[in-house]
Amino acid sequence: MDPKNEIIRDLRELTEAEMSEAEFLRSVENNMIPMQQFFTYYKCAIMEIETKFRVLNEQFSLNGESNPIEFIQSRIKSYGSIYRKLLSRHIPRNIEAIENNISDIAGIRVVCSFVQDIYRLADCFLQQDDITLIEKKDYIEKPKANGYRSLHLIVAVPIFLENEKRLVRAEVQLRTIAMDFWASLEHKLRYKKNLPPFKLNLLADELKKCADQSAEWDGRMQDIKNIIEND
Ligand code: GTP
Ligand code: MG
Repeated sequence: MDPKNEIIRDLRELTEAEMSEAEFLRSVENNMIPMQQFFTYYKCAIMEIETKFRVLNEQFSLNGESNPIEFIQSRIKSYGSIYRKLLSRHIPRNIEAIENNISDIAGIRVVCSFVQDIYRLADCFLQQDDITLIEKKDYIEKPKANGYRSLHLIVAVPIFLENEKRLVRAEVQLRTIAMDFWASLEHKLRYKKNLPPFKLNLLADELKKCADQSAEWDGRMQDIKNIIEND
């Protein structure tokens, strides 16, 4: 093909792809009120879940233990990120389909000091009678091939509104500081797509080694804590 035509075709495809995202964003604006209401449900779910973890954090420290939670980070998935997920999973672009098919619009990340705290907090949280577990993925016991570790819980939590009670889904990620440090760096590097393949392979290898080493450190820190506490 004539290289000029090729460039024109590429540009057209690019424009079309961008146009459809822009169209999506425009339609979001046109439907702003129902969308805002929709996102408010997820904000409320985040508030409910964050409070549950903050309460557990306080309660654990009442028992004479140190606070198990270092920090909590929450976010509502961005419109662009929702759009890309709909597109990649061939999900229809309407609110009902989004609600039924995307579980991580509300995301709560609970970063703990020690690995055992993760399981203790997760157990206490899941035992609460208003929390329904939908899916659990234990990437600590079974890390991803790249070395990623965290405990993921997809749950449904009720939120109480003026005239109704709604069940809202959320994704809770529990991890240690070491797991979080690794995941943030790996996430940043994933977007450096212009690196040559040999460098990418090298980095993937190096990142996997770092993940395994930091898991070993997590284990050693846990052992130290156990020795101190059992003394
Ligand atoms: P998504 O389409 O990304 O939601 O994947 P999934 O539905 O298969 O769920 P999964 O539990 O694998 O991942 C959900 C979330 O966990 C992601 O959105 C990230 O926040 C985090 N995560 C999963 N895998 C990785 C990883 O390899 N690296 C990093 N940095 N984060 C990850
Ligand atoms: Mg997900």
